[in-house]
Amino acid sequence: MIKGIIFDLDGVICSTDVYHFEAWKQTMKKLGVNIDQNTMDKLRGVGRVEGFKMMLNDAKITLSEQEIIKYCDEKNELYKNLLNKMSYSDVSDENRAALYKLKEKGIRLAIGSSSKNARLVLEKIGLRDFFDAVSDGNDLKAAKPDPEVFLKAADMIELPPAECFVVEDAESGIDAAKNGGFTAIGISAAAKYERTDYPINSLSEIIGILEKTGTETKI
Ligand code: BG6
Ligand code: MG
Repeated sequence: MIKGIIFDLDGVICSTDVYHFEAWKQTMKKLGVNIDQNTMDKLRGVGRVEGFKMMLNDAKITLSEQEIIKYCDEKNELYKNLLNKMSYSDVSDENRAALYKLKEKGIRLAIGSSSKNARLVLEKIGLRDFFDAVSDGNDLKAAKPDPEVFLKAADMIELPPAECFVVEDAESGIDAAKNGGFTAIGISAAAKYERTDYPINSLSEIIGILEKTGTETKI
C-alpha cells in the first residue's frame, strides 16, 4: 500500500540542468577544459564534489582537496546567481496540478535530493512549504546510488520504504531507490532504465499508477 511519494528535485519537479551546465562550463574553462552535454548527462543526480572529481578524472587533472573545495565553492556561487532567474513558472502547470492532486488524496509528499541548494530552489519555484519533508544534500554521508537520502525522507514522513514511491530522472537515483527497498518511478532518462518499475512522461501519470497499485487515501 503506497502512502508516500519521495521526489527527486532537479530534473523531476523542475529543470535546473541548464544552470548547473552554465556554472560548470565557466568553472571548467578556468582549468582549460570544455564540457559538453554528454558530460552533464553523467553528472545528473551526482553530488557537487563527486561530479567535479568525475570531470577532473576524465580530464586527467589532479588537484588537492583544498583546491577541489575552492572550485566547487566558485561553481556554487555562479549557480546560485543563475538560480535568480528561476520563478514559479519553472514548474509546469501540469506538474503543479499533479502535486496538488496527490496532496489532496492524502499522500505524504517529500523531497529526496542530492542538492545542497534544494531549499533555495524550492523557494524560487514557490514550493518551499508545500512538501511534508525535505531530505537534501546537507549532512548526507553517502551519495546516490546509496539510499541514504531517500531513507531519511521516508523516516521524516514516518513511512517504511515499502509504502513509498521514489520519483527520479537519474539512473543513480533509481539505483538508490531500489537499493533502499522503494518502488521506483522513472522520468526522462530514467524512464528507459532497466531497474525502473514505472516509466512516466509527466508527474500526472503517477495518479494512474497509484490507482492501479491501490492506496489508502482520503478519497
Ligand atoms: C543533483 C543534480 O540534484 O544535485 C546534480 O542532479 C548536482 O547535477 C547535485 O550536481 C548537487 O547539487 P548542488 O546544488 O548541491 O551543487
Ligand atoms: Mg535529478
